[in-house]
Amino acid sequence: MPAKSIIYLDNGATSWPKPTAVGAAMVDFLNHRAGNPGRGGHHLAREAVAVVEAARQQLAHMINACDRKRVVLTHGCTDSVNMAIHGVVRAYHRDHGGFDRPCPRPHIITTTIEHNAVLRTLHCYASNRQIELDVIPCDSQGLVHPDSVTAAARSDTLMFAISHASNVLGTIQPVREIVASLRRIVPDVLVLVDAAQTIGHLPIDVQDLDIDLLSIAGHKALKGPTGTGALYVGPRAFPEIAENARIYCERRGGTGAVAPGLEMPNVLPDALEAGTPNAVGFAGLLAAMRELDDPEVARRAHQCEQELTQRIIDGLREIAGVTLYGRLDNHQRTPVVLFNLAGWPARELAGRLDADFGICTRGGVHCAPLVHQTIGTAPSGGVRVSPSAANTAAEIDRFLAAVRQLAEEGPSRAGHS
Ligand code: ALA
Repeated sequence: MPAKSIIYLDNGATSWPKPTAVGAAMVDFLNHRAGNPGRGGHHLAREAVAVVEAARQQLAHMINACDRKRVVLTHGCTDSVNMAIHGVVRAYHRDHGGFDRPCPRPHIITTTIEHNAVLRTLHCYASNRQIELDVIPCDSQGLVHPDSVTAAARSDTLMFAISHASNVLGTIQPVREIVASLRRIVPDVLVLVDAAQTIGHLPIDVQDLDIDLLSIAGHKALKGPTGTGALYVGPRAFPEIAENARIYCERRGGTGAVAPGLEMPNVLPDALEAGTPNAVGFAGLLAAMRELDDPEVARRAHQCEQELTQRIIDGLREIAGVTLYGRLDNHQRTPVVLFNLAGWPARELAGRLDADFGICTRGGVHCAPLVHQTIGTAPSGGVRVSPSAANTAAEIDRFLAAVRQLAEEGPSRAGHS
């Protein structure tokens, strides 16, 4: 268990502390089940398969996937986003004569609210003129309006990629409305939703949202270990007839399944999964997800996070010199608050909160550089405070007292810590 003196308010980066069941399940896996899943018929390999497939099933259940095979296990959310974007662009070029032959460039839309997982992966094609990329702006609250997406849409738009919620401002996007408007213009556009900051906080139903690809982080609000993630791949992206798949993975290797010679299997999830998965990590994630599966536990956690978030916002508003960004209420936001204190560089303020008070926050741009241009915090960003239901009101009050003390200390000493 954490030392008493630590106040952990950086759950947007990774959740902590993890439920004790997570570590216990991982130790149990290592001691009693740690065969290689699918690679061998002995009982330890079978035990490992059971754990990994139960994690896949639990993820599928959580997002209402029509088939658990559509949940591809990955090493994290960035890995999933890479698989989705590279996969869709590569499949397009494969079907249009390859990268070396001239072909119409596919059109992709994304937004300024995105994390670098999306922005940098798209940039590697946009910078080589292998895609036409439209990056549409969010407003000052971090909201992407359906009209701005449809204004950018074209009949040949291949893909739309958006974060379900901003990791900087916590703003939850109206994904359902955006997708419905977008599909009126381009019905078969592939929609990638990055759920790094929402899964575990909000119910997600991939069928109701009508999306094709969902990237999942295991170590954030799901409370699993790092190194675990998943990519949901819907029927538009990977139809039953695999030859028509619009996602193509160049990663090659064994899958444990009987494969046709040197080709990868053409069924999900094996078509996109190669190599030994992080089975011990998925054992931990499974234990974490089972705890979250209780609706009453989830409801209480959500309510607690909302109350703590509002307490942070209300408290910071009272401190002279504080600027808050994004929404100032609890409507359509995750438990993430961004602020600055006049005269203090964000990273330095976060550093002092840690060094002097044992309070863990994150200062900087949070790997989402473009949103800071919109909200006026470029280039140094802000301090992000992201509580969880493991925090208490008393801890939030200690955090607020620490900010107040640093505000009183004044900017004249900033830069000398
Ligand atoms: N993407 C993680 C964050 O927002 C690391 O902090």
